[in-house]
Amino acid sequence: MTDRIMVAPSILSADFKKLGEEVASLAPLGADYVHLDVMDGAFVPNITFGAHMVKALRPCTDLVFDAHLMVADPAKWAEDFANAGADIITIHCEADVHAHRTLRLIRSLGKKAGIALNPATHENSVEYLLDEADMVLVMSVNPGFGGQSFIPAVLKKIENIRETIIRRGLDIDVEVDGGVNEKTARLCREAGANVLVAGNAVFKAQDRKQMIGLIRGN
Ligand code: DX5
Ligand code: ZN
Repeated sequence: MTDRIMVAPSILSADFKKLGEEVASLAPLGADYVHLDVMDGAFVPNITFGAHMVKALRPCTDLVFDAHLMVADPAKWAEDFANAGADIITIHCEADVHAHRTLRLIRSLGKKAGIALNPATHENSVEYLLDEADMVLVMSVNPGFGGQSFIPAVLKKIENIRETIIRRGLDIDVEVDGGVNEKTARLCREAGANVLVAGNAVFKAQDRKQMIGLIRGN
């Protein structure tokens, strides 16, 4: 885990008609990762884009590509996203009855493996997956859409997960995704998160650079 707070703008809130430019703009604004929300219309009630889009965007930046797969049966797709240039591939524990095997698969492809939990999912669900994970993604909205309000009950979950990681001496990032803005970001950082996803807060901000700084806590 890095001591630095990482900010990962979600391009779900970007202008899709100039997505390449939007992605290219992020490094100069101080972003650390590009968060890529992949939705299949089955695991979540929305469809976004697949590995083909990730591959097309890859030449637009050197930033880390943080692919959040909100798809049923993610094992089927992990290799495609690895080949497309994703650096971190996160799957949902609710979407995969063999999440342990899929996390190992992602690592075997030379990528960082993330495990995500929906707001209703107890942290115990990832307890036995932590040895295979580089990141835990705590959803702070129900996945499917950008621009929703942060669910404060997840703060306790973030605390519990960070406590378990420290107790077990593991090196795992804790990412929070959904409704993160300059106010909720502070609560997430205090609870132990070190990677903050923000869609609307960044892309709808008048001053995107300043907003990324505020989310990081500068
Ligand atoms: C929700 C996505 C999020 C979303 C965040 O299903 O996983 O990454 O784009 O958007 P905001 O920050 O607007 O809640
Ligand atoms: Zn996401």
